[in-house]
Formats: sequence, structure tokens, C-alpha cells
Amino acid sequence: MKTPVLEINNLHVTYGKVEALHGASIAVGAGQIVTVIGPNGAGKSTMLNAIAGALATNASTTGAVLLRGVDVSTWPVEQRVAHGMSLVPESRDLFTTMSVEDNLLLGSYTRYKRRDRKYAEELEVVYDLFPRLRERRLQAAGTMSGGERQMVALGRALMAKPALLMLDEPSLGLAPLIVKEIFHIIVRLKETGVAILLVEQNARAALQAADYAYVLETGEVVMEGPASDMANDPRVIDTYLGLNKKTA
Ligand SMILES: Nc1ncnc2c1ncn2[C@@H]1O[C@H](COP(=O)(O)OP(=O)(O)O)[C@@H](O)[C@H]1O
Ligand SMILES: [Mg+2]
Repeated sequence: MKTPVLEINNLHVTYGKVEALHGASIAVGAGQIVTVIGPNGAGKSTMLNAIAGALATNASTTGAVLLRGVDVSTWPVEQRVAHGMSLVPESRDLFTTMSVEDNLLLGSYTRYKRRDRKYAEELEVVYDLFPRLRERRLQAAGTMSGGERQMVALGRALMAKPALLMLDEPSLGLAPLIVKEIFHIIVRLKETGVAILLVEQNARAALQAADYAYVLETGEVVMEGPASDMANDPRVIDTYLGLNKKTA
């Protein structure tokens, strides 16, 4: 098998005395969308932040994070970004008073530092994916709608030309129709060749978009399998896809 784009082995994360991740292991293959679903507090953001090297200062961690076959687990955030990972955090973290285009250009900062000045081409790629951002490129990011802000955050992450794109609950706070639109775009992103790790409470949308899925509960991977199998698994249906569980 080809080397996965991302592999984490036996990842533990502790905040003070509280262990939030108890030895999680996952892999994301080339060209795949892999999802980690689980309820609020399961440790999903903790997992992404540990992979990105962006955990809170009170956290300690053990275990391996391999990006394109290289153990990056002791590297600082910026070096991991330069090696090909990009995280869209739950908070989106836009510069609200800056224009859409300036927010996007900031995403190519690490490439700029590497003297890779081809970000104008990437800007066109992002504008082709999100025509609405092209129309609104001079608008202050903070005045955009929730869905549009998520597009800016996604676009900014893509400006770094990542090998691995990590998305922390892209559906959070968005109306169902907008969630649909964002997930359509996420599936289309696969065509650009980027591997995607998608963390979601919205199991229904995530399992539809993903190739492979893990279920995370209280810091442990309790189930895994092809996303379509998981969507038909009675336990997953019962816990995450039941009639009244549209967003849980
Ligand atoms: N900086 C922190 N300090 C202490 N506890 C934290 C911190 N961040 C997260 N936690 C705890 O770790 C657990 C997992 O949180 P999180 O990773 O945010 O879950 P999820 O993203 O699945 O909702 C929760 O119990 C949460 O309260
Ligand atoms: Mg979270």
C-alpha cells in the first residue's frame, strides 16, 4: 500500500490531569476523505489540534504523527504547515476587518516565505472553486454570511496547497442548505488531489461525503470502516443518525 498522507499512532493527549484522547490511531490515504464523527466533547478538536501541533499550552501529548511518511510529532506548527498540512479550526479564525482577498493571501504566507511566488495561480484556483468569493473579494471578511466565511476559511487553507486539509466541524452554526453547499464543495476538493480529514458532529452529512469513517467516543476510536458501511450500521444509525438526530 502507498504511504498514507497522514497516520497517527497511539495518540494520547492530557490537559492537566484529564486525558482527552486515549491512544487514538487513524490513517488518511491519498485522495481520500476520512471523517471522524463523535459527540460534543469526544476529543475531535483535540485530535486535530494535536495533529497540527496547535494544542493549548496546558496539554501534553504522546504518540506519533506521520505526515507523508515523516514523523512530525515534535515539529512546531509552522514546520508542519510547510510540510503540507493545513487546519481550518472550528472558530474559522478570519481577520474580520481585512478583505476576503487579503485573508486568502495570508493563507499563502508560508509559501511566500519559501519564495514560492506562484500564489496568484492558486488564488485563481480558489476563486474558480468559490465564485462568490471572487465577486466579494474586496468585502471585509467579517461582513460575510456564515457560509461565506466558511468558504473564506476553506479557501485560505487551500492557498497553502496542502497535501492534507483538516476541517474542524465545517457545518457548525450553518443552516441545512448552506451545510449542503459546503459539503458539495468539500467533495469537489477531492478532484484537486488533496486528502481531507473531516471532523464532524453532523454524522449524516459527514458519512455522505466521506470514503472512510472513525467513531470517536470519550477519547477512543470505538468503530471504523468504509463510510457507506458505517451509515448502514445499526449502532451508528441508533446513536448518530436516528430520526431526531439531524445534527448530533
Ligand atoms: N484547553 C483545554 N483544557 C482543559 N480541557 C480541555 C481543553 N480543551 C479541551 N478540553 C477537554 O477535552 C475534552 C475533549 O474536547 P474537544 O477535543 O474540544 O472535543 P470535541 O471537539 O469532540 O467536542 C473535553 O472534555 C474538553 O472539556
Ligand atoms: Mg470540537
